[in-house]
Amino acid sequence: MNTLETVNDCRHFRKEMGSEALVLVPTMGALHKAHLSLIELAKKQGGKVVVSIFVNPLQFGPSEDYYRYPRPLEADLEKCRKAGVDAVFVPSAELIYPEGQDALTLVIPPAQLTEKLCGITRPHFFTGVATVVLKLFNLIQPDIAVFGEKDAQQLAVIQKMVQDLNLPTKIVAHSTVREESGLAISSRNNYLKTDQEKEAALTPSKILKRIHEKIANASKGQKNLKEPVFRDAVSEVLSELNGTSASFMLEYLEAVSKETFEPVNFLDKNTRVLIAGKAGSVRLIDNMCLN
Ligand code: PAF
Repeated sequence: MNTLETVNDCRHFRKEMGSEALVLVPTMGALHKAHLSLIELAKKQGGKVVVSIFVNPLQFGPSEDYYRYPRPLEADLEKCRKAGVDAVFVPSAELIYPEGQDALTLVIPPAQLTEKLCGITRPHFFTGVATVVLKLFNLIQPDIAVFGEKDAQQLAVIQKMVQDLNLPTKIVAHSTVREESGLAISSRNNYLKTDQEKEAALTPSKILKRIHEKIANASKGQKNLKEPVFRDAVSEVLSELNGTSASFMLEYLEAVSKETFEPVNFLDKNTRVLIAGKAGSVRLIDNMCLN
């Protein structure tokens, strides 16, 4: 497995690979089952697989977990080796932001996509993500890049950037990988310490599942199910759960169009329901498409 650390390493690797396709899996490390599934999907695309491991300071707010974000580099490299990754890109913050972050050229995704959902509590997040992903694309020059659907708003922002800036990279999405309990797998699940937090962390997937069931029931024999059916399902599910998940603090629960992230009038297979909230002190997100 090649280890790329500098701009020259990336340029050299791209050149060495000639016309072979490069498939990038961008990560912030602390690799888990879901990352390994992204790597598997990347391998199926054909070509050489590059995993980038970079905890991007630009996408963290001042009171967020940048400094305590897990960085088990040796274990990550071992997982990549075992998974048959061809190269890992492990840049330093100095390589990615040599002049710091204050006078940096930024990629600012459109407000229609970002000033809602996660963008409300994390106003700098999507600019940080889009900027670093464009830099990773320019460094690695991948033909394909693989992202998880768990971060659906991030995925939409990246797809929009690729389209708007005519980037030659094809974006491939992987469905959300879950624990048996339904919990969407995320590096931040490691922060769940107490039994109460672990129990509360199951609430987002439970809510999504119940909403899905209720909407599927309501839709029997009916086309064009209207959006108020979603709102009714939400109030029913939240009152069903009332008291059983006291330590999950809901931040948002919304139905949007899976392409534009605009609110929907009708519920159909192009509708995505997204949820965020805190299990104790741990912020979690999840989502599901209606089908
Ligand atoms: O989803 C992530 O791990 C990060 O947001 C990404 C895409 C690697 C950018 O830092």
